[in-house]
Amino acid sequence: DSAESINTDIITLSRFILESQRYDAKNATGEFSLLLNSLQFAFKFISQTIRRAELVNLMGLAGASNATGDQQKKLDVLGDEIFINAMRASGNVKVLVSEEQEELLVFRHNPATYAVCCDPIDGSSNLDAGVSVGTIVSLFKLLPDSQGSTKDVLRCGREMVAACYAMYGASTHLMLTTGNGVNGFTLDTNLGEFILTYPDLKMPLEFPIYSVNEGNSVYWEEPIQQFFQQLKVPKSELKDKPYSSRYIGSMVADVHRTLLYGGLFAYPSDQKNPKGKLRLLYEAFPMAFLVEQAGGKAVNDRGERILDLTPENIHDKSSIWLGSKNDVEKYLKHI
Ligand code: AHG
Ligand code: MN
Ligand code: MN
Ligand code: MN
Repeated sequence: DSAESINTDIITLSRFILESQRYDAKNATGEFSLLLNSLQFAFKFISQTIRRAELVNLMGLAGASNATGDQQKKLDVLGDEIFINAMRASGNVKVLVSEEQEELLVFRHNPATYAVCCDPIDGSSNLDAGVSVGTIVSLFKLLPDSQGSTKDVLRCGREMVAACYAMYGASTHLMLTTGNGVNGFTLDTNLGEFILTYPDLKMPLEFPIYSVNEGNSVYWEEPIQQFFQQLKVPKSELKDKPYSSRYIGSMVADVHRTLLYGGLFAYPSDQKNPKGKLRLLYEAFPMAFLVEQAGGKAVNDRGERILDLTPENIHDKSSIWLGSKNDVEKYLKHI
């Protein structure tokens, strides 16, 4: 009967964090749970704002550009404000890097030990069409005795302590890693809580999907063109079926699908974007961390592991190839 089918012992994100800290002495200060509370709040607030945007006239351009030259949408600016305010108010963040802020922000009055890097709205070119977008976040611990500077974030990707994204799709999802696997949560809008729905998520070893902006192919180098050609027209048609193409144009949504279904997502460098398009600190790093923790791989054009890279400036970019282990290895073998 229905009373029996309702789970009365659900695991919320807050419960999940508190319980995992109980077993992890090094993270037992509670600072991380407080920070995660503020992150959850920012995700819920941005989620609601996006879902109401059309009704309260928040669609369209804001009229300015950001540090990497993107035109800002009204929701880029609003998402950025919501995120910054939530992090400042949390008291547990000292340093904040945002796609929409040219310089790094330092909250001097916060007696905090975390640095947060964020893409407040990822996929903003899709906003006006109501297509899935998200927020991407990476977390570092400040260097010893740091008062907060770019040194705290211009570090090798392996030094990240946590990464997560929220995807504002048909429902709002939150995928999180603290270096101990990936756990996924779904926002229950009635409860206002993220509920554990994908415990210890592992991605498929391979899956015949490629996800890339193929409109850029004229700007790609020859080996990259050849590689995708080979996915579409396999050499041995008997053994390999052609890959399907899926490209949403929101990294969050394309990576989310890749985590759940498997396959390959790439944004290679090209003549227009010689260093690639996606930014290390708040796009490539956190997604690479999540994908690796789910059993996948993430490398750049040259096959170097993304998490081994170190950005030179806070908006530094990288080419990226990520996804199922075997599919990324197919690329590695090709080069
Ligand atoms: P953002 O909206 O945060 O600026 O990021 C856009 C990124 C990413 O979401 C997506 O994968 C990629 O840009 C799409 O770029 P193209 O439109 O060049 O394919
Ligand atoms: Mn942008
Ligand atoms: Mn983005
Ligand atoms: Mn963005």
